[in-house]
Amino acid sequence: MTPNQSGLTQSGLILGIESSCDETAAAIVRRGTETLSNVIASQIATHSPYGGVVHELASREHLRNIVPVVRAAMAEAGIQYRDLDAIAVTAGPGLAGALLVGISYAKSLAFALGKPLIAVNHLEGHIHAVLLELAQLAANSDLDPLALPALALVVSGGHTHLYLARRHGESWTYRNVGRTVDDAAGEAFDKVAKLLGLGYPGGPWIDALAPHGNPSAVPFSFAQIKAKVHRRGDPSAVDPASSTLFSFSGIKTAVLRYTQTHEMAASIEARRAAQAANPTITGALAQCDQQTLDLIASFQRAVIDDLRRKTFRAAEQLGAASLLVSGGVAANRELRVRFTAEAADHGLPIAFPSPALSTDNAAMIAAAAWPKFLANDFAPPTLSAEPSLTLGR
Ligand code: KG4
Ligand code: ZN
Repeated sequence: MTPNQSGLTQSGLILGIESSCDETAAAIVRRGTETLSNVIASQIATHSPYGGVVHELASREHLRNIVPVVRAAMAEAGIQYRDLDAIAVTAGPGLAGALLVGISYAKSLAFALGKPLIAVNHLEGHIHAVLLELAQLAANSDLDPLALPALALVVSGGHTHLYLARRHGESWTYRNVGRTVDDAAGEAFDKVAKLLGLGYPGGPWIDALAPHGNPSAVPFSFAQIKAKVHRRGDPSAVDPASSTLFSFSGIKTAVLRYTQTHEMAASIEARRAAQAANPTITGALAQCDQQTLDLIASFQRAVIDDLRRKTFRAAEQLGAASLLVSGGVAANRELRVRFTAEAADHGLPIAFPSPALSTDNAAMIAAAAWPKFLANDFAPPTLSAEPSLTLGR
């Protein structure tokens, strides 16, 4: 291994590898700002019949895809392995077996090439998806740099977290200031889509169908969660991660109860059967009556409004100078419109990744690795998967 001495004498080419859930991804990013390639092999078709990620199948698919995906990323970037300065890989959080495929491959490659290995937290990766694109924009315009501290909402299938992000020179620190107490927001999208007989993953289906319904038709409410979670051993200090709490398991149950009291089972089963044979959003739209479309629109509006209210309240309380929203659910069109409008009302700059970088990808992993490369923050050869890895204090 040849640790970086200055970082500035290097060409800054990092290969990022991501395999934490159901996408096998590899990307080459130069100096955390310039994406040379970003290749993703999706496993949607594999997991679709089950309506969720089947862990063993995910590991098997990662094993099948990892070599061709990395080769494609190298070829697309037009570089040789010897040109790389480091190899970065997602160490967690995620599915243990899935993470291990990426980690084992990255470790072997780093060892064989004599290049440093960098471990990246998937959640930090999602934040860097936004920072990467902001840096790309700034390089091509006179855009102001991101105002700090930034409040980052990471909202995906596995996470609904708020972080206050600060920069110290080249490195970043995060304070965890909010989390879900049960399901993640993306999980609610996936479970509601599944119970309504729509495709997998549910977010894009609900996103596409919601504009056809009335978002005020079904009033869903979110109970205020007042749990006081204390730091272990210090009953007087409230855990900062509990200052904003989300909960999305109740709304899924409320949607289920609505379908039961309104006797929607037969139409749901008909749609499920039709979608199993030929899953398309246009087909699903034709197979949804107005009551179902109103239910979908009301569900989406309720989730987004809850995320929006709590995020902007936290931003105000914490004195955040800007907002970042990232993770799969950040691809949602209504979320972007409503967050953008509220940010304008508050005079807060807000940034989202492009839809392609909202969901899991490896460019965000390679970008998050760049400050670590500059700080010589390399992973030991004993690096292993950390399925429950957390980010920040
Ligand atoms: O970040 P991601 O690819 O993987 C995780 O780290 O979880 O996020 C996947 C999640 C899924 O729950 C998916 O339904 C949701 O993001 N998602 C969306 C949209 N696109 C993906 N949710 C709402 N609207 C979307 N357009
Ligand atoms: Zn993710």
